[in-house]
Amino acid sequence: MMEKALIPPYSYERPLRKPHPMLGVALALSLWVACVYTGLFTGFVTKRSSVKVPINAQQIVQKCAHIDVTPGPPVDFYSRDESDRYVPGTKPTLIKNATIWTGNVDGLEVVLGDLLLDKGIIRAVGDVPAHMLEAYDNISVVEANGGWVSPGIVDLHSHLGDMSSPRLSGSDDTNSRKGLVQPWLRSLDALNTHDDAYRLSISGGVTTAVILPGSANAIGGQAFVIKLRPTEERSPSSMLLEPPFNFSGSGIEEVYPPRWRQLKQACGENPSRVYSGTRMDTIWAYRKGYEEARKIKVKQDAYCEKAMAGQWDDLGEFPEELEWEALVDVLRGKVKIQNHCYEAVDLDGIVRLTNEFKFSIAAFHHAHETYLVPDLLKKAYGHTPAVALFATNGRYKREAYRGSEFAPRILADEGIQVVMKSDHPVLNSRYLLHEAQQAHYFGLADNLALASVISTPATIMGQEHRIGYIRKGYDADVVLWDSHPLAIGATPKQVFIDGVAQLEHPFTSTKPEALQHAPETPDFDKETKAALKYDGLPPLEPKESTSDVVVFTNFDSLFLDIGNGVEQIFTSQKYSGAPQIAVVKDGKIICTGTSEMCSPTSYMTSRTINLHGGSLAPGLLSYGSELGLTHISGEKSTQDGKVFDSLTDKVPSILGGDEAVIRAVDGLLFSTRDALLAYRSGVTAGVTAPSSSGFLAGLSTAFNTGSSHKLIEGAVLQDDVALHVAISLSSPVSVSTQIATLRKLLLGDANGDLGSQFTKVVEGKIPLIISVDNTDIMASLIQLKAEVESTSGSAIQMTFSGASEAHLLAKEIGVAGVGVIVSPARPFPSTWEMRRILPGPPLTQNSAISTLLANNVTVGVGVDGAWAARNTRFDVSWAALEADGEISKAEAIALASSNLEKLLGLKSGTVTSDLVATTGGTVLDFESKVVGIVSAKRGVVDLF
Ligand SMILES: *[C@@H]1O[C@H](CO)[C@@H](O)[C@H](O)[C@H]1NC(C)=O
Ligand SMILES: *[C@@H]1O[C@H](CO)[C@@H](O)[C@H](O)[C@H]1NC(C)=O
Ligand SMILES: *[C@@H]1O[C@H](CO)[C@@H](O)[C@H](O)[C@H]1NC(C)=O
Ligand SMILES: *[C@@H]1O[C@H](CO)[C@@H](O)[C@H](O)[C@H]1NC(C)=O
Repeated sequence: MMEKALIPPYSYERPLRKPHPMLGVALALSLWVACVYTGLFTGFVTKRSSVKVPINAQQIVQKCAHIDVTPGPPVDFYSRDESDRYVPGTKPTLIKNATIWTGNVDGLEVVLGDLLLDKGIIRAVGDVPAHMLEAYDNISVVEANGGWVSPGIVDLHSHLGDMSSPRLSGSDDTNSRKGLVQPWLRSLDALNTHDDAYRLSISGGVTTAVILPGSANAIGGQAFVIKLRPTEERSPSSMLLEPPFNFSGSGIEEVYPPRWRQLKQACGENPSRVYSGTRMDTIWAYRKGYEEARKIKVKQDAYCEKAMAGQWDDLGEFPEELEWEALVDVLRGKVKIQNHCYEAVDLDGIVRLTNEFKFSIAAFHHAHETYLVPDLLKKAYGHTPAVALFATNGRYKREAYRGSEFAPRILADEGIQVVMKSDHPVLNSRYLLHEAQQAHYFGLADNLALASVISTPATIMGQEHRIGYIRKGYDADVVLWDSHPLAIGATPKQVFIDGVAQLEHPFTSTKPEALQHAPETPDFDKETKAALKYDGLPPLEPKESTSDVVVFTNFDSLFLDIGNGVEQIFTSQKYSGAPQIAVVKDGKIICTGTSEMCSPTSYMTSRTINLHGGSLAPGLLSYGSELGLTHISGEKSTQDGKVFDSLTDKVPSILGGDEAVIRAVDGLLFSTRDALLAYRSGVTAGVTAPSSSGFLAGLSTAFNTGSSHKLIEGAVLQDDVALHVAISLSSPVSVSTQIATLRKLLLGDANGDLGSQFTKVVEGKIPLIISVDNTDIMASLIQLKAEVESTSGSAIQMTFSGASEAHLLAKEIGVAGVGVIVSPARPFPSTWEMRRILPGPPLTQNSAISTLLANNVTVGVGVDGAWAARNTRFDVSWAALEADGEISKAEAIALASSNLEKLLGLKSGTVTSDLVATTGGTVLDFESKVVGIVSAKRGVVDLF
């Protein structure tokens, strides 16, 4: 172990895992002292040699003996037959006939058989001996029918409880703004037990999480590991997994061995921004803090050296300071540091710091540039840090701009441990497994992808002795899945935490056989190499754009919108397996059918693209984010910017004052990386409204995501699309004021441009898109619609977007003829007005989408961040799987194409006349890859 070799010369040698060898001698000495002098003196006692031995000498010696012991489980931990978290009364459970991913053998082991859970631990894996079962007279039996079982999902980076949902002004306890270096703060002190998200995250299979303080500080405070289940005591402390034995004093525990502690550090933008400093200030703040700790440690070591040698003369008190004890423990190798850090410049700073002060980093988090600097990571003191990443959430600030979906695979190839994390509620940790699925899609091996949210984070947080694996004696944190966990939409059928079943009435559907094994994901070797070659900014434009003949061969399915929404025109099964071809010229299909029917040779084709059982399907449309108006969402100088809010701001008269209507088409920015990535993922168009945080946004525009500038033919699909307003409980003005304003505008009280746009809305010529989440507001809007229509005599095209609580009013929305864009596709109760979500399986049978569809509502799916546009194909795929066969593949595609066209008032075919060519499967599948876009409008085929 490197720590040992690097013990400073003033410290004495001592083994890391065993108490000090002098302990026996020193204890004997102090016992002898105690025996001789007990009762004679208080305070210091005088020995015959006139050495003053303090009365607490034994305690001091104990403390010194344990000062450098590496944390870990006690030696007898593995022979435990009951968990310290066992809930008395929990019935033993036998899970029969399961396909068990154990996490063993680097995540490669799969055991077919049974699993016995009792007393909060796993009693047997695979073959459960009959005699063991006979011992139970009342055991609950779960038939897995061959289904997949894994250990619980483990989140290395969460703010559950500290930033609880729904977000209220009293509930953001993640970031203290009282100093750059505050190792004395503890996330536990802010852990709200009433976060709505515990239950939701459990329903996604998450059983354990590290709750980190925020990233506003260089050293933000101590983190704590919790299990998510409710406890009988209902307290934050009772949720902790292996907390330190003592919460007071120096932190140095006289318990052998101590338990791992966690500390949050952050570098780069966040601490600089909060304290109006620079990266230089942040690193100095670290060094100053660590220097304090180092000095204390030197004093402690000198003190202990004397104490252990029995040199008690004038030794005084053990040197310690409450403020710095956690950092001293870092220097003693007893703390797992979870370090938010993105860019090479910051990673380099922290690596230098670790070598200056001799401590190691457990993991770099976010860490979007780590894949570019693996050799730098390997220079960190002690060992190479793990890297905890998002899969595709990137580009939100400079530090994330070079993030790559191929980073997990590149890091794994470098032998670096990869963790996927949620940063909940940044990503909803209910879907943490989806991060692993995406990492797998982009090239991380399946064993490592599963480990990245289970065994690896368990190891990085120092809990691998009890969680993260299915092993005898481990915590009974187990998930039974409805498919292979890496298949899209994998959902728990049951989740056990400490052996306690967490889902009371789980609703799950039977997933198709195709989803019962890990998807065979496409080849991204070239893209992976390009990410490295171009320093994180590989060109994303199509490799080639051609109006020549292109022949697509060997595809399995064809989806088209021939005027009535998306339909599946054929599958190869329907045509007795005959391979299909499509001949395209000038971006238009001129023939589809078998090769006899189309005889491609007669077209003197220069290009044949074999789709290997893939598909052609209409282009997808993205709505709901700032796609096309923003390069980097956290950087004002890279985006169109926000409009004035006429309800709260004074709109300049030069602009026309309150009557101005802003048009997004005037602010379009092409070639943003989010748009190009969306294009490469089959999202060929975006509809974006001007950015607004107030009432009136303005007119949206429709654009092609693959074009390089506005003046290219087909770059702008429709200048003005719809009029957009937002009505929210979170607005600085009242909801009633917002609705009164809308009524006034709809009843014809506005002049100028504003007046004429609202006239178009009232006449039904353009849709009114209302961003709204709360049911009561939606009800008022439905009434307002009727009120206005009864005066005007014409129907308003009204669409709700966001619409978290729309399912509560599904029938009325359907009857009123209002459309709904559900955004994001899978709901989360971020704010009070969103809190009554319909979570979908396994918590409820229906999802919001299926409920609305069942009530004849036209439903589209949106995104709430431009980075997420690229994931649209998986979002709609998931929505269909959740509906248990009620939503066909064609209908799933329609949710993000023809339905959205209709809801936004675009002419049919605006987007769906584009065709997305995929290899290996349909655009909905993890097996497929988008290889080209056929654009009739632009008369070309784009090839990637
Ligand atoms: C077994 O447990 C169930 C509830 O968990 C209870 O209803 C039943 O009476 C028990 N049976 C026996 C034989 O104890
Ligand atoms: C396990 O489940 C599978 C799938 O339902 C079934 O085919 C098989 O017979 C079962 N095996 C046992 C031992 O029950
Ligand atoms: C620290 O924890 C240990 C183990 O629980 C306990 O025996 C000891 O009394 C505690 N010490 C203090 C100072 O609380
Ligand atoms: C939806 O429309 C269908 C066909 O028009 C009709 O049969 C059904 O009753 C409607 N359902 C609801 C909930 O309105």
